[in-house]
Amino acid sequence: MRKLKDIKNTIIKGDTIEELKLIPNHSVDLIFADPPYFMQTEGTLLRTEGTKFSGVEDDWDKFDDYNDYDQFCKEWLTECKRALKKDGSIWVIGAFQNIYRIGFIMQNLGFWILNDIVWSKTNPAPNFKGTRFTNANEIMLWCTTKKEAKYTFNYKTMKHLNGGKQMKSVWEIGLCIGKERIKNEDGKKAHATQKPEKLLENVILSSSKQGDIVLDPFMGSGTTAAIAKRSGRNYIGIERESKYIEVAEKRIAAEVVQKDNPLYNNVLDIAPPRVAMEKLIEKGYIKKGEHFYTPAFKKAAQVMANGHLKDKEESLSIHKMSGKMRDLDNGNGWDYWFVQRGKEFISIDSIRKDYRKKELNFTDFEIK
Ligand SMILES: C[S@@+](CC[C@H](N)C(=O)[O-])C[C@H]1O[C@@H](n2cnc3c(N)ncnc32)[C@H](O)[C@@H]1O
Repeated sequence: MRKLKDIKNTIIKGDTIEELKLIPNHSVDLIFADPPYFMQTEGTLLRTEGTKFSGVEDDWDKFDDYNDYDQFCKEWLTECKRALKKDGSIWVIGAFQNIYRIGFIMQNLGFWILNDIVWSKTNPAPNFKGTRFTNANEIMLWCTTKKEAKYTFNYKTMKHLNGGKQMKSVWEIGLCIGKERIKNEDGKKAHATQKPEKLLENVILSSSKQGDIVLDPFMGSGTTAAIAKRSGRNYIGIERESKYIEVAEKRIAAEVVQKDNPLYNNVLDIAPPRVAMEKLIEKGYIKKGEHFYTPAFKKAAQVMANGHLKDKEESLSIHKMSGKMRDLDNGNGWDYWFVQRGKEFISIDSIRKDYRKKELNFTDFEIK
């Protein structure tokens, strides 16, 4: 076994199955795997105007048959499961050629699928011959090692990245082109399957924390490591080909760590400390017996020393009483109730924020 400190933030050169076997048990937090797809492309693919389209023709994508491919996937996935921490998670990207085989193998190995994310390509390569639909998506299986795992999911960070709406399992992202696409000195693509940074940003930001170790067993041009470094995570890469390791190392060296970026440090997903209404009364932020008002500023209930509200009929928690006002079984009282201060009505949530700031030294974070 290798020592984690010796391989943290390095790319290991070698065969992934052999090298994965040397990663200590339950030592990595997140795995992103972009394995060979076994595309089985044959012959030259020509664009309609006659120029050659360069797809994936590399030797690393060749296998004898499906048995050979399945055996390879079973072996590297088994090692990934062993290397993952018990609450870690793994993403495997593939396409129609291989993802159904990979999903079957993963479920048989005991992985638990959380999502199958569709990467919907905004700029797919056309179907040049017009013999099939334009193939415009790839799939990422996001899995834990078991159903009960308490995996990381930075829900609020992703919601923010999605313009304030819950992020869906279909991601519209363009293929890696233009300045982002790494070229060799001859102007040709340095790697046939360089993944877009935005894809890896979504993966890493959603399912890991700063300081975590992200392992990529098929490192290629180093997209995973670049985003891991940028966002304050550690990486371990495995890659067989020296020419790709060279490209990746140069790329990683040029990355600047942005630890304080609020999207990268997941500050949105740090849960604020809980505050009981009783505590606000005890500390004088809310007065025992004062009136609570509805969002239409209608006097509706009075607060008691134990933090419950009473109306003419009964006493209920702030949540239950807010539900009662709307003929619901329950509600969120913090978002509903107002109290009067001078001539103004202010929400009890803003009083709670004030308490957290002054008494607990905690400021709720908002990205402008
Ligand atoms: C699909 S590409 C990964 C591309 C990468 N995600 C990127 O953004 O550049 C797969 C990579 O795995 C490497 N590879 C394939 N089989 C391997 C093996 N058995 N051991 C180590 N590396 C392997 C290939 O050389 C190739 O660079």
